[in-house]
Formats: sequence, structure tokens, C-alpha cells
Amino acid sequence: MERQTLALVIRDAEEVLTDAGVWSPRTDAELLAAHVLGVPRGELARDETVDPEALARIRLLVAKRADRVPVQHLTGHADLAGIEVDLGDGVFVPRPHTRLLLDWGLGVVQDVREPVVVDLCTGSGVLALAVARARPDATVHAVDLDPVALEFAHRNAARRAAAGDTAVYVHRGDVADPGLLAELNGKVDLVLANPPYVAEGTALLPEWSRHHPRHAVFAGDDGLAVIRHVVRRGTLLLRPGGAMAIEHDPPQADALLDLLGQEFTEVETRLDPSGRARYTTGRRG
Ligand SMILES: C[S@@+](CC[C@H](N)C(=O)[O-])C[C@H]1O[C@@H](n2cnc3c(N)ncnc32)[C@H](O)[C@@H]1O
Repeated sequence: MERQTLALVIRDAEEVLTDAGVWSPRTDAELLAAHVLGVPRGELARDETVDPEALARIRLLVAKRADRVPVQHLTGHADLAGIEVDLGDGVFVPRPHTRLLLDWGLGVVQDVREPVVVDLCTGSGVLALAVARARPDATVHAVDLDPVALEFAHRNAARRAAAGDTAVYVHRGDVADPGLLAELNGKVDLVLANPPYVAEGTALLPEWSRHHPRHAVFAGDDGLAVIRHVVRRGTLLLRPGGAMAIEHDPPQADALLDLLGQEFTEVETRLDPSGRARYTTGRRG
């Protein structure tokens, strides 16, 4: 029976992933090995031999990663702002820069007691859950239309609530629906949204183009089809002075200024540390 040290297994996996064009081959090889062996990545014992069954499972996952399945879909977990969420095939993998939107949002409600917060296009629920963790006094609602995303959002919300975080209300809904969360109209302090915003036809890495649902990534010819609805929902949901932050593609910044400029004040493009326009914010006039 084949036995190899973990160091060798990881080295082979790294080679396979490098050949496949994966941008972080070492990290991903280690993450997959750690996942199969059930240890944190930092505690991989490289001198130990890997038993044949574990070796076969690692190789299977490495082959899937080489086919450019996102590593988070293979391990079943992702993390944003210290909130770990379960996710799987068909659920959007949170991206690190979405943290900027979250931090901005938490800043604007820091002096608001018992804020009402809505996360539109919630996916795994990670933004809503991060708000609920940071603000135990908040009432947080999360909306998505995808049944798979909703299943994970419900599961993640239940797990965080069982761990003591404030409960998040997860809703099935379409941001294009004028009646969405109508009972909250005029009462919301903060709307956060990381909607799909890539223009149809844009070339993306296979992780996004082949292994994410199209409706989680693409949004019409200009990428603004869902964002337009998000702005309309925010306009209705927010109380006067309430704030909204929408993530978008850097080239969409001017379009966002126009869209928000119609009903919002203090409209601003926000940059990431490398100077890319990542999200736009405004306050309901
Ligand atoms: C870019 S993902 C963001 C997920 C999550 N907010 C995050 O940052 O990880 C966009 C999400 O919007 C959802 N979505 C797309 N169109 C929608 C619509 N019209 N109404 C509600 N949700 C929508 C997709 O199902 C997907 O989960």
C-alpha cells in the first residue's frame, strides 16, 4: 500500500495546482491536506506518513481544485472578518475586500442604539452575521433569492445564534420586488449590499465563471441590473439619515454616483488600500 510523508504529498499537490494555474498552490495544497486530516493548517505534521485512504481523499480534492473549484467549496468553509461560515457548491465565496463595506457600515451605526440593518443579496449570510456579532443590540435582516444560498444562510445563522450571537432574520426575496420587506420601509438605519455586479461577457477566472452560479456574479450588459434594484430598495427601506453601502466593480464608480445621487446625500466612492473604487456609500436625504 502506498504511503508518503505529508511533506511529499503537499509538494506533489503544489505541483499539480501550479500546473493548473491556481494562484496560491502551496496554501491551497496545505488547506486541503489539513481539511482531510482534520487539523488546523498550522499544525500539519509534515514528517508523518499519510495513510492510503487520506492520501486518496487529498488527491481527489487536489484534482477538483486543479479543475478550479474554489478551495472554500472543497473545505466547506470561508471566513470574513472573523466570522466563519459554511458554504458549498453554488454559494458565493466571500471576498476579503467586502470587509471594507462591513467596517464602514459598523462605523456609521456606532452611535445608533438598536440599529435596524438589512443585508441585501446575502449569499452565505456572512455580512449580516458579522453585523450581528459586532452589534448584539441590532436587528439584522438578510435577503437572497437563491435556495441553496438561503439554506446555508439559515444554517450559518442558526449556528451563530446557538453560539450566542444576535439572531439574524433570513428572508427569501428578490431585490427587484417592490414589496420586499415593505414592513420595514422608512425604518432601517443601514443597508449593506454586495450584489452581483459583473458585466455579461467579462472574462473571469474559472473559479468565478465556471464554479459560481451566474446570478451570483453577473448582472446584465453593464453589470448594474441588480444594483439598480438595490438602490430602489434602499431608497424605500432607509429612514431619513439612514445609510447605504453597495459594493461594485471599480469602473462602475461613476454610474453608482449617478444612481445614488438621485435620492441620497453625502454620496461617496470608497477606495480599497490599493486605490481601487470598491464601494459607494450615501445617506438617505
Ligand atoms: C456577489 S454574491 C454576494 C454574497 C454575500 N453578500 C457575500 O458578500 O459573500 C450575490 C448574491 O446575490 C444573490 N442575488 C442575485 N440576484 C438577486 C436578487 N435579484 N435578489 C436577491 N438576491 C439576489 C445571489 O444569489 C448571491 O447569493
